[in-house]
Amino acid sequence: MPIKFKKSEIDNFLSKSETEISYFYNLIGSHGLVILEQAKHNSRDLLKFAKKIGKVRVHEINSIKNSLPNFKEIMLVGNKEYNDNSKGLETSIGTWHTDYAFKINTDCPSILKCEKSPSSGSYTSYIHTGDLYDSLEESFKLELEGCEMVFDYNAFYKNFADKKRTTLDKKNSNNLVPVSKNIIYEHPVTKRKCLFLCFETCMYIVGKSKEESDKIINKLFNIVENFSKKYVHKWTDGDVLMWDNRCTLHRGMPYNQKEVRELHRITVEGNYNFGSFV
Ligand SMILES: [Fe+2]
Repeated sequence: MPIKFKKSEIDNFLSKSETEISYFYNLIGSHGLVILEQAKHNSRDLLKFAKKIGKVRVHEINSIKNSLPNFKEIMLVGNKEYNDNSKGLETSIGTWHTDYAFKINTDCPSILKCEKSPSSGSYTSYIHTGDLYDSLEESFKLELEGCEMVFDYNAFYKNFADKKRTTLDKKNSNNLVPVSKNIIYEHPVTKRKCLFLCFETCMYIVGKSKEESDKIINKLFNIVENFSKKYVHKWTDGDVLMWDNRCTLHRGMPYNQKEVRELHRITVEGNYNFGSFV
């Protein structure tokens, strides 16, 4: 489960040299989640760190309206609104998901920094999908072996997007090609068997009837909802969490909307492509 760094270790962690990148990927792949409590680093330092370890993602659609002013690579998460072109997002709060599941190179890491948490508390939960795989009955593991799930940003948009987002017109929509990925796969760094899931963007399982496909997706949904081996993080201002979307599911929890919740998210494009375009 997650690894936490003490205050004294954090500067050292973020200033690791480029030769230590493999150390970082091993660490985040094994634990799923790295926690830097009250790190107090500003988002520019984190962006620098992200650029050192890989290519920072700029989301084609979200960067238009949902980024920190003057920083296309930093997505605003929460209810903070700076202006019409910089509004916080949280449309899928409460749903277990994987950031950028719909991309062929799913991101590692997602870096989320807490700028401001409501005084009444706000929480994000995490599950390592290697633990999830290990918990499945053998018969269900066999049933899932070789199954490919289709992930599609358009599906997400239809079910979750609100008016704060940039309109998804036909051109945008056509550019976001769905991808299919094996539900059970071997993590590229740790070689551990993990599940690849996302209940925001999943559509169907390749080669199954709608009924069969829905049945499997619903069963997986219920397993995840009831999974007890999860980490629940209570946000404190300054906290930085980094996770590997290739072996971690997460979901934000509802909070008091009368208070401000502002989080900054930076994601690094995964250096390992898997799945195929549909
Ligand atoms: Fe997310």
